[in-house]
Amino acid sequence: MNKERPRWGHGELFSKSRIILLWLESRRSSLPRPQKATALAVDNCAYGRDVVPLSPAVREANRRNQVVPRACPWGSTEKSSMGKEYDIVAKLYDPLLYFFMKPVRKAVLNELLTYKDKAILDICCGTGNQVKLLAKNRFTNLHCLDLSASMLEIAKKSDYPIHIYNEDATKTNFDNESFDIAIISFALHEKDRITQENFIKETHRLLKNDGLLLVVDFAFDELTTIFSKIGIIFVERLAGGEHYAYFKNYIQNNGLSSLIKEDKFKLTKKNRKLFTGITVSLYRKV
Ligand SMILES: C[S@@+](CC[C@H](N)C(=O)[O-])C[C@H]1O[C@@H](n2cnc3c(N)ncnc32)[C@H](O)[C@@H]1O
Repeated sequence: MNKERPRWGHGELFSKSRIILLWLESRRSSLPRPQKATALAVDNCAYGRDVVPLSPAVREANRRNQVVPRACPWGSTEKSSMGKEYDIVAKLYDPLLYFFMKPVRKAVLNELLTYKDKAILDICCGTGNQVKLLAKNRFTNLHCLDLSASMLEIAKKSDYPIHIYNEDATKTNFDNESFDIAIISFALHEKDRITQENFIKETHRLLKNDGLLLVVDFAFDELTTIFSKIGIIFVERLAGGEHYAYFKNYIQNNGLSSLIKEDKFKLTKKNRKLFTGITVSLYRKV
């Protein structure tokens, strides 16, 4: 089926993995650290060259949720670098994370097995690895979106009938209530609070009444083993300054439980993976 999938010899995989880890590490140490900045600096960065000031309400939400001001690395604005952060890792994403992701992908598949003909949207789908697994298992109405053209290039490398869109998950071009099921997998923890809230808000708009939201992300609580915590922190630190800062905020803010509000989505099922460090949570739109 997947004719164009690259073949990875052990030697090549090892050397490419080393290069990317070294690159991530050098990026982490050379970038300016997120600093305590004024609200205006945050605004400038978040809104790019237009320098649109945030409303007092949004600024207050930032403060309440301890949003770390963006460092605006590479001397560019956040907006102009959006969608480019995965350019270098795109080709390595699946090979590097294969063993880590495999049980998680399977858990999502199992959760959705009874919905094979439903309209399913994978939001921030990356390389499309999850939807490809669903397609392989004869799901028939699959859609996925991502901001990164490089990640989508990999997603497109399959013969499966998947609809792929280059869209911003905070404001998509789909009509209200277009989908029965939405998946958000490993996309929330690496974003600032406002973006996380916008992902959830937009997902709520896109789902039909009674639609399902399946979220996969890290969980740090009394059930999470220390082994799992250490492994996840190690990986997230490698991913770099800003990414790690947002991950820390996400954990400090209690992850999904503070982000997904009961008046919008009702939690119906929760499953733990990777030594309890990951949750696969199923919500129903209220
Ligand atoms: C850690 S990857 C997760 C990919 C995939 N969901 C998975 O489980 O492997 C996060 C993805 O979110 C995408 N992303 C980040 N911000 C986005 C946005 N505003 N709109 C759409 N995609 C976004 C990135 O391009 C990246 O592919």
